Amino acid sequence: MKNYIPVIETALGRYLPAGEYEEQQLIDAVRYSLDLKGKRVRPSLTLAFAELCGGTVDMALPFACAVEMIHTYSLIHDDLPCMDNDDFRRGKPSNHKVFGEDIALLAGDALQSIAYETMLSDEAVAAVGGKRAAKAARILANRSGLLGMVGGQVIDLSLEHREVGAEIVQLMEEKKTACLIEAACMMGCVVAGATDAQINAAERYAHAIGLAFQIVDDILDVTSTAEELGKPIGSDAENEKNTFMSLLGIERCREMVADLTEEAIRALDAFDGDAADLKDFAVQLANRKK
Ligand code: IPE
Ligand code: IPE
Ligand code: MG
Ligand code: MG
Ligand code: MG
Repeated sequence: MKNYIPVIETALGRYLPAGEYEEQQLIDAVRYSLDLKGKRVRPSLTLAFAELCGGTVDMALPFACAVEMIHTYSLIHDDLPCMDNDDFRRGKPSNHKVFGEDIALLAGDALQSIAYETMLSDEAVAAVGGKRAAKAARILANRSGLLGMVGGQVIDLSLEHREVGAEIVQLMEEKKTACLIEAACMMGCVVAGATDAQINAAERYAHAIGLAFQIVDDILDVTSTAEELGKPIGSDAENEKNTFMSLLGIERCREMVADLTEEAIRALDAFDGDAADLKDFAVQLANRKK
């Protein structure tokens, strides 16, 4: 896939307030986590689907950045002591280790608001039209919220220290991780004016790579190192989480990731444009080491 990371990172910085404010600590906390070197998977997908559907990087950028802001908020909250209690993220101390739990909580809250402000700015709306901007924002709200990512996080917590089946683990992983990746891909299509059939195909692709993404995350939590991942390993075992790794073991996990990656690639047949990059990206994510 094209390297969209520099353009995403430049844009992310632009959407935060410049200058000195009374709330400087909060702004610093938001900037700290946004600036750290994430893989930028979700915003890259938004831009790639926008281009695949005949749109431009420029028109899709506010929407791509909004997804990354929501993702970053989810990581800050995920690391809090009341959640996974992890001290490292993206190779640096977690937000709450630097700024304290209170500010970390509020930085997550603020990132949510900035995400919607960014997508619904005059500039973003002028570039794609009010109807498309509203639809994209609605998709993000839906997939990141009550019955999406946040719901998945609640299911994740509810499964700690228990013996459960694969079905509920799959639901949890779909919600906490695939939902936001679905939003990222669908929003790229929507802002570019894609057809419903294309939006549905993007959703199928994202659902498959999204579930695979979380299964790989669960594998790496066992097999990788903290240096490589930039976050602690063994966190899932320590919290007695249910994951596909704890439930089914590594061989079955690898098979599932391979099957899901094929499923994702098949979904791209619905597009007339050249989806080779997105096919490669699915394979790359399946084989990622961090
Ligand atoms: C981590 O996401 C949280 C999961 C949903 C597995 P990423 O692996 O995309 O984290 P960054 O953005 O690269 O730090
Ligand atoms: C995170 O799942 C899903 C989110 C919505 C943040 P994990 O708890 O496994 O993510 P990491 O391993 O801490 O990045
Ligand atoms: Mg978690
Ligand atoms: Mg975690
Ligand atoms: Mg994990």
